[in-house]
Order: sequence, then structure tokens, then C-alpha cells
Amino acid sequence: MDFLFLWSFLFNCAIILVIMKYKELFKYARDNNQIIDFEEEAIYFLIEEINHLKRHEIILKMNDDLDNEDILMEKVNRYIKDNIPVQYLLNTAYFYGNRFFVNENVLIPRFDTEILVDKSIELIGSKKCRIVDIGTGSGIIAISIKLKCENAIVDGIDVSTKALDVAKKNAHDLNADINFIENDMLEGIDTKYDFIISNPPYIDGDEYVSDIVKSNEPSLALFSEDKGMYHYKKIIQSSLNNLNDDGVLLFEIPDNKCDALMEYASMYYQDIEYIKDYNNQRRVLIIKNRK
Ligand SMILES: C[S@@+](CC[C@H](N)C(=O)[O-])C[C@H]1O[C@@H](n2cnc3c(N)ncnc32)[C@H](O)[C@@H]1O
Repeated sequence: MDFLFLWSFLFNCAIILVIMKYKELFKYARDNNQIIDFEEEAIYFLIEEINHLKRHEIILKMNDDLDNEDILMEKVNRYIKDNIPVQYLLNTAYFYGNRFFVNENVLIPRFDTEILVDKSIELIGSKKCRIVDIGTGSGIIAISIKLKCENAIVDGIDVSTKALDVAKKNAHDLNADINFIENDMLEGIDTKYDFIISNPPYIDGDEYVSDIVKSNEPSLALFSEDKGMYHYKKIIQSSLNNLNDDGVLLFEIPDNKCDALMEYASMYYQDIEYIKDYNNQRRVLIIKNRK
């Protein structure tokens, strides 16, 4: 009995003392993952941020002892067991080449939104103009545009005070001069804009949303009534007063609402086109106010 006890004590000590290798952290995450949406990408992101390594450096270090094992294990466990997105665990997301602070009060920036930003920057260029980002969330759209289009006066609107706190922190950290306004879209605002830009909530309550998104990201940022069209319709309606002649309305859209949106917008505007993303999905709607 004593011998068995000693043996198991020594065995446990040995496990504690052996430092995990990089490749073993990936195996641990795969084998112990309790979530449906598990992505190895998330483990890479944790290591990149915590150990300040580039992707290729991690690949080269797979057989090396893991650095910062305690911190990594704690975050990996919260991801694979509690289903918390790693961007929230790290309070970090990258968008359009910049690092942004994120927390559970804002949508995690999506790579697809870079297409909306790219197109907006292309159209705005170095013009002196006034633009608004409606539903600014973490501020990624407004800030990325302001950093490239110095001559634009940029407003960022959100109905969520907590989201605006995040946007203000990001604008401050990235040195972008933005006027943030707490408001229900353009309700009661008289300002005339040259560009109205928005990635509004657009998911219908009946649509499939992955577990990790539904249980962590703010529902205010995800769902919209009227089959996901409420915010688009409201913004189009407001644009009739708030968009200058020759102004442009740019929306991020999901492919499955493109037809309905084009039909709705065509009641008020003639010049409407979409651009596709890298998956051949219609992703950005561009509505020009030609008089
Ligand atoms: C899909 S998220 C987009 C966030 C950010 N612009 C991005 O692209 O990552 C939509 C944002 O709209 C905001 N929002 C929802 N309803 C709103 C309303 N009635 N007026 C203003 N903002 C609203 C949410 O708080 C959320 O930040």
C-alpha cells in the first residue's frame, strides 16, 4: 500500500514537472475540447499574442518546451471548456492592420468587413467630406477610415454606451479623431453626410447562429427585426434626409439579404451595385444618390 502510494505520488510529481511541448498544447486542446465550434486557429492566436511569436515561428517550435504554460493553459481551458472567444480572453482583435481592444460589449471584428472599409476608403480618397459609421461598435470602421482619409470628418454612432466606451478607447489608442454619438441610428440627427456607412445588425431571430457567437457576442450587435432588415430599412429611410446630393450609402450585407435589400433600396435610388467577397458572396452594397 505504502509502495503504491509513493509510486502514484512520484508519478504525479513527474507529470507536474514535465513541461508541455508546443505540439502537446494543440493535442491537449483537440482532445479536451468541449465546444462545437473549436478552431485550431484560436490556439495559434493565443500563442501568438501571449508568447509574441509569429505563425511560422510557432510551427518551427512545435517540439520545444512551451513558454508561459500556466497562462496559456488557463486561456485554452476557458476557450475549450467555457466557449469564450479568444479575442475576448485577450481583449484583442486585429482589423485592417491595426490592433483593437475588444470586450463582450462589442462584436468581434470580422475579416469580411475589411471589404466595406476598402471600398469606402477608395471612394472617399482625400476628399474633404463628412462621413458617419452607424453601429460603430468597437469603432473599427470609423477609425480605419479616418486613419487613411485625413480630410474626412468622421462621426461614429452607436446606441450602446458600453460599445461607445470601447470605440473611444480604440480611437484614443490609435490616435484617430472621431466624434462619437450615442443615438438610435440617425433618429433626430440633422447633419448631412457625404458618406453613410454601416455594418448594422442583420440576423433574423430564426437564422442559424453558431453557439460561440450566440452565447458571447452582444445580441444588440447581431439581431435585427423585420427578417433582419429593420436597421437597413431605417438607415435607407434616414438617408433620404441625411445624405447629400451625390452622397454614397455603403452597407455590409449578408448574401441572403442582397436581393431584398436591392429591391427595397430601388424604391428610392437608381444607382445600386454590390461587390462580392473572396467566397464569391455579395458582401457590400453601394447606393449612390445621383440627382
Ligand atoms: C454588427 S455590429 C457592427 C460593429 C462594428 N461596426 C463592426 O463592423 O464590427 C452592429 C452595431 O450596431 C449597434 N446598434 C444596434 N442597434 C442600433 C441602433 N438602433 N442604433 C445605433 N446602433 C445600433 C450595436 O450596438 C453594434 O455595435
